[in-house]
Amino acid sequence: MEEERFVTPSFIKNDQSEASLRPKVFDEYFGQEKIKENLKVFIEAAKLRREPIDHVLLAGPPGLGKTTLAGIIASEMGANLRVTSGPAIEKAGDLAAILTNLDENDILFIDEIHRLNRTVEEILYPAMEDFALDIIIGKGPSAKTIRLDLNKFTLIGATTKTGMLSSPLRDRFGVSCRLEMYTVEELSKIVKRSAGILGFNINEYGANEIASRSRGTPRIANRLLRRIRDFAQVEGEDVITSEIADYGLQKLEIDKIGLDNIDRAILETIITKFNGGPVGLDTLAASVNEEKDTIEDVYEPYLLQLGFIKKTPKGRCVTPHAYKHLKIPYEPK
Ligand SMILES: Nc1ncnc2c1ncn2[C@@H]1O[C@H](COP(=O)(O)OP(=O)(O)OP(=O)(O)O)[C@@H](O)[C@H]1O
Ligand SMILES: [Mg+2]
Repeated sequence: MEEERFVTPSFIKNDQSEASLRPKVFDEYFGQEKIKENLKVFIEAAKLRREPIDHVLLAGPPGLGKTTLAGIIASEMGANLRVTSGPAIEKAGDLAAILTNLDENDILFIDEIHRLNRTVEEILYPAMEDFALDIIIGKGPSAKTIRLDLNKFTLIGATTKTGMLSSPLRDRFGVSCRLEMYTVEELSKIVKRSAGILGFNINEYGANEIASRSRGTPRIANRLLRRIRDFAQVEGEDVITSEIADYGLQKLEIDKIGLDNIDRAILETIITKFNGGPVGLDTLAASVNEEKDTIEDVYEPYLLQLGFIKKTPKGRCVTPHAYKHLKIPYEPK
C-alpha cells in the first residue's frame, strides 16, 4: 500500500535520481540550523586534535536528510564513509569483519540501527567505547576472551525510531541529533536548488507552492518537483509557476497543505466512526485497512506536526484544526 502512495516520505523506486540532488557540503544543506552549528564545532575540534569525531546518532522520520548528513560529515572530515544497515548485519561475525576492516578515522554509517539484533549490538559496545573487539574462544569453563584493538573510527547511526533503540546503545553516542521537519521557506530553497541541478526554471511562487505541500520533508519536495515538471512540459510551460504547480498537485490529489486521500481517510474515520477519538492504534489501523507501523511512521508524524491529531493515553484524537480543514462542523463533547 505504502509503495503506491505518492506522498510517502519513505524512499520509493522513482526516487532513484535522489543521489544527484543530495547536498555534499553544509552550505547546500538547508535547515536543521542547530544541528549543523553543533556538528561544525565538533568537526572543527576533532580536526584540530587529529582525531575522529565522537559517535553520532541521527534520529528522525524518513526523508529528512539523515543519510545526506552522514555523507556531509564524512566529506567535511575528509574521511572514508563505509555504509551498511541494521538488517544487513545478520551475525556478530559480520559486524566483526566490518569493524576489523576499518582504517584509522573511517566513518561507519549504520542505517536503521534500531534493527540490529541483540548479539550483534553487543559487539558494538566495546568497539564504540574502547575501539576494541572482544572475541570469545572455546566454550564452557575453559572459554577465554581475547581483546583485539581496532582502528579509531566514528560510528554514525541513523534511526527512524529512537524509541526502539536500547539504552546501552543510545548512551554510547557522544552526539545525538534529532532532525526536525522543515519549514516552507527551507523547503522552498531546497526545491529551487534541485530545479537548478535538474536544469529547469521555477519561480519563487512555484517553489513556494510545492514547498508548502511537501509535508515538511525534502524527499517529498524533490519528488513533487519532478512530477510538476512533467505537467509543465506537457502543458508547454517552460517555467514552473504557482498556477502550474497547483494544477499538477490537484491532479495528484494533494491538497493545499500536503494531505492526500489516505491522510484524509484517517482523519475522517476518527471523526465519523469514533466521534473524534480517542481511538487505539490497532482499531484505527483495522478501520482504515493500513499497517499499524505505517500509520505510526508515515502518516502520523505530519498530522501530529500540523496539530491535527493528538496522542493521549487512551488513543488518538482529532483536534478542532482538522475539523476546520476538512470543513466538518466541530461539536465539543
Ligand atoms: N537539508 C537538506 N537540504 C537539501 N536537500 C535535502 C536536505 N535533506 C534532505 N535532502 C534531500 O532529500 C533526500 C532524502 O534525504 P535522505 O536520503 O538523507 O533522508 P533520510 O533521512 O536518510 O531518509 P531515510 O530515513 O528514508 O533513510 C536527499 O536526496 C536530498 O536530496
Ligand atoms: Mg537514509
